[in-house]
Amino acid sequence: MSSSGNPSAPPYPVRIAGTGSYLPERIMTNRELEESVDTSDEWITSRTGIRERRIAKDGEFTSHLASEAARRALEQAGVAAAEIELIIVATITPDTLTPATACYVQQQIGSLKAVAFDVSAACSGFLYAMEFARHAVGAGAFRNALIIGAEKLSAFVDWNDRNTCVLFGDGAGAAVLLPSTNGGGKILSSTLGTDGAQAELLNIPGGGSACPALPGTAPVKPAVLSMQGREVFKHAVNAMRQAAIDGIAAAGLTIADIDLIIPHQANLRIIDAIVERLDFDRDNVFINLDKYGNTSAAAVAIALDEANRQGRIKPGDRILLVAFGAGLTWASAVIEW
Ligand code: COA
Repeated sequence: MSSSGNPSAPPYPVRIAGTGSYLPERIMTNRELEESVDTSDEWITSRTGIRERRIAKDGEFTSHLASEAARRALEQAGVAAAEIELIIVATITPDTLTPATACYVQQQIGSLKAVAFDVSAACSGFLYAMEFARHAVGAGAFRNALIIGAEKLSAFVDWNDRNTCVLFGDGAGAAVLLPSTNGGGKILSSTLGTDGAQAELLNIPGGGSACPALPGTAPVKPAVLSMQGREVFKHAVNAMRQAAIDGIAAAGLTIADIDLIIPHQANLRIIDAIVERLDFDRDNVFINLDKYGNTSAAAVAIALDEANRQGRIKPGDRILLVAFGAGLTWASAVIEW
């Protein structure tokens, strides 16, 4: 049983005032993976579009990636970290099971009066965070919000499993939300959906209460990503296509009104299938998965920041963000920039 809906707009409109992203320096190429698992650059590139990914250093955790992306978004927004009132970090690779990674970020960036918590909605997490922050700011409960998608997936991947290890990477992206000013941009609509009946298709089975990692024992199931790739692929295409259609309709627009689509960056074939079904111009789809692989909750956030900083988004443009991930979860948002 799945559920999906278009939350109504908050009382006051909300805009994205700044974006930021951070990628670890270390690049791991497909060729490098050829040395450790039975795969090839040709297989990975042709099946996924991924050419390389970034890998965080030992001692560099999800919170560190998140904080660096946050600093860059705050700088662009012209908002001091000390003024931030709400921090939501979307992640499935937290520094620790508790406290939330957002609590570490609060300290690292010095947003000492912010309420801070995490959202676990996998690759849809950044858009889930955006929607709840939009309502918190748009209702006047908080004057601003910092939303971050951040992952150190390299810490939760079985590097001997060619089915998964070639797909994922580390990184973080962030955005600052403020009330929309006269004539400025705003978030127009959002769609969120969940289908817990498909939870088994993509999960990290070990390390939680169902399969704890207790002192002196190895968990029966490992704390690494497990995925039924072909099934996930089909669900991803259908759910993202529908979320795109629903989000655009909720904004009172048609696909012809959209200037740029920023999709979740999991697989180029998934993106191509969606764009074809939407009958949208492929040149107006932002793609960076060739450089970073799938960075889950960080992917849409990093792509949004890169599109913004590369000048791919101009004031007044309407952009569609759309994502899909474990849960299963899916989400879209239409933004007037
Ligand atoms: N290198 C070489 N061969 C590989 C491989 C790798 N890295 N990974 C899998 N294979 C093999 C499989 O073992 C299989 O071999 P077999 O036919 O002998 O059994 C063969 O390639 C085909 O596997 P299949 O699963 O059919 O490939 P695919 O075309 O579906 O591509 C994925 C696999 C994972 C790339 C694709 O299913 C996918 O992208 N799924 C969605 C993943 C995703 O986006 N997850 C996150 C969602 S947010």
